[in-house]
Amino acid sequence: MSAPREPRPSTLAQSLDTIRTIAWMKETARQARAESRVIGFVPTMGALHAGHLSLVERARRDCDPVIASIFVNPKQFGPKEDFAKYPRTLEKDAAKLAAAGVGALFLPEAAEMYPAGFATYVNVEGLSERLEGRTRPGHFCGVTTVVLKLLEIVQPTFAYFGRKDAQQARLITIMARDLNLDTQIVLGPIVREGDGLAMSSRNAYLSAEERRAAAVVQRALAAAGDEVRAGVRDVLRLQEAMQRVLAAEPLARVDYAEIVDAATFEPVLRVARPAYVLLAAYLGRTRLIDNMFIEPVAEGADEFAIQL
Ligand code: PAF
Repeated sequence: MSAPREPRPSTLAQSLDTIRTIAWMKETARQARAESRVIGFVPTMGALHAGHLSLVERARRDCDPVIASIFVNPKQFGPKEDFAKYPRTLEKDAAKLAAAGVGALFLPEAAEMYPAGFATYVNVEGLSERLEGRTRPGHFCGVTTVVLKLLEIVQPTFAYFGRKDAQQARLITIMARDLNLDTQIVLGPIVREGDGLAMSSRNAYLSAEERRAAAVVQRALAAAGDEVRAGVRDVLRLQEAMQRVLAAEPLARVDYAEIVDAATFEPVLRVARPAYVLLAAYLGRTRLIDNMFIEPVAEGADEFAIQL
């Protein structure tokens, strides 16, 4: 059998190999593995910002080649969600990836990822239905299904995900563990705008007024962080500190403000072990999520390190 050919050579960006078919992506990755090269993979839905590029930068330190994908995955959007209007900025994205040193960009079509008769899904039970999953039923099943497909196609040594989507990152880590995937999941830090707003492709939806108000999300987390530094361990008090900040911003409507164990994502009553402070809020019609990771500086210590 002859090797699969890429039907449409790319003109998107010089030095960036653009791959549109699954067969050619598999072949390209297979060749890299045959040369004993360490593949780093950064899956995205495009509309790239500095958060994505920080993952590419991290991947470049560990791997060669770095492969990125852009695929706005229809399976992770609910029927009333923003699939149709999700920002699509392919030319700009390709230029950013080329400049960041990505070697190949995988751009599959939905019809090839999900051909007629597609019927197989992967779901991490329990955690997929809570928090984000409660507001967005089916979302995480769509995420884990597409991520498993992408990891299977590229078979990277390392795959990189942002910590802003903390629950997504945890679910992907659990899936990789439960299914004995060979890929190691690496999490990158949240990258923020000057006023603290976590970078997100969906920030583009905010009006000027909502954009100004959106920094309240990070301020609320920071208020909880200040309480933790001051010795507060009671979760109700930490939630009150967040609510006080959020209540002062009339444009913000809170979906949830929860503090969960970092491994199980079960709610905790007191902070004693590594935990996530998770916040989801609407600014107008745009739903933003953000989080803060807190962990004891040493085993059993009462002092906490805070990553916001
Ligand atoms: O975080 C994202 O951009 C998406 O959920 C991902 C991981 C690329 C899967 O579509």
